[in-house]
Amino acid sequence: MFKIKAPIDFATYAKHFTYETSQRRSQYLRERLSDRLAQEGEKKSTYLEVGFGPGATVCDLSRYFEKLILVEPNSFYVKDVKRRLDKEAKSLGYTTHIFEDFFCDRFYQQDKFRQQIKDGVDLFVASQFFWYLHPDKWSTVLDQVYTSLSAGGTMVITMTSDDSTSGNFYRRFEPEVQMANHIIEHFETHPDLTTDQLKLEVWREPLSFTDKESVLVDLFLFYSKSVVETFSNTEMSNLSLKEFSERYRHIVAEEFQKAGFYTGDFSEDGEELIEYQTTQCHIVVKKAG
Ligand SMILES: C[S@@+](CC[C@H](N)C(=O)[O-])C[C@H]1O[C@@H](n2cnc3c(N)ncnc32)[C@H](O)[C@@H]1O
Repeated sequence: MFKIKAPIDFATYAKHFTYETSQRRSQYLRERLSDRLAQEGEKKSTYLEVGFGPGATVCDLSRYFEKLILVEPNSFYVKDVKRRLDKEAKSLGYTTHIFEDFFCDRFYQQDKFRQQIKDGVDLFVASQFFWYLHPDKWSTVLDQVYTSLSAGGTMVITMTSDDSTSGNFYRRFEPEVQMANHIIEHFETHPDLTTDQLKLEVWREPLSFTDKESVLVDLFLFYSKSVVETFSNTEMSNLSLKEFSERYRHIVAEEFQKAGFYTGDFSEDGEELIEYQTTQCHIVVKKAG
């Protein structure tokens, strides 16, 4: 049984994401970034990824770097990804530094971490990660990441597109919610960063994939305002996600259907695979060289 109180609890829950979902989500990013890195030829020094999850992106891009710095609090993922990376570290020529004991809004309070990034980060990746940080912290973390980039370094943040079926779905719960747009605006309107200092690109990718219905129900419930309110009030902290999902899934099913995100019927046992369609946004910020 786990409680969804803090990111660490949610990270524990995240082990229920299927590997396939993560593979699908990271595929486009990996291909586009590998193409760029391969064209550039030369091996870069440092890769930083937060919330790597099942590790699809880092495992494919590791060959282009000398040093991988990885932050992920979910020990289930850490163990598996570390084993896969260690296997090829020697032949592909990189070192790995994994931090599982702190969250990325505390980057700069961690001496061990500061020491690792001090020579600059060439590529930063955060795919479907910012959800886990309170929006009040986004600006600080984005600025810290930008500052840590080497000259010519790139940061890539993958988020759900606001203008998508899943964006519509979230807004049914939380009308003000901003996902990718929040990050795009941060860089477009930044008072200290002019277009001489950075180049901003947005890659939009239609995405369809399947996942366990129960995983989606839990995920969306977690983000919905009503849930946050319910669970901060009361008994929620004593409910397992399974119980939570059983209690509220009918609300989510209805909202899914209204948003056109999913049109079938939900199964009784919550374990069927469902397919859904959305658009993902990769926000790419390149620091001037
Ligand atoms: C939705 S998953 C995305 C996984 C992968 N990046 C992908 O695109 O498939 C988010 C990941 O962020 C991790 N996470 C949650 N809170 C975090 C934090 N504060 N710092 C670093 N990682 C965190 C979770 O454990 C989870 O593996």
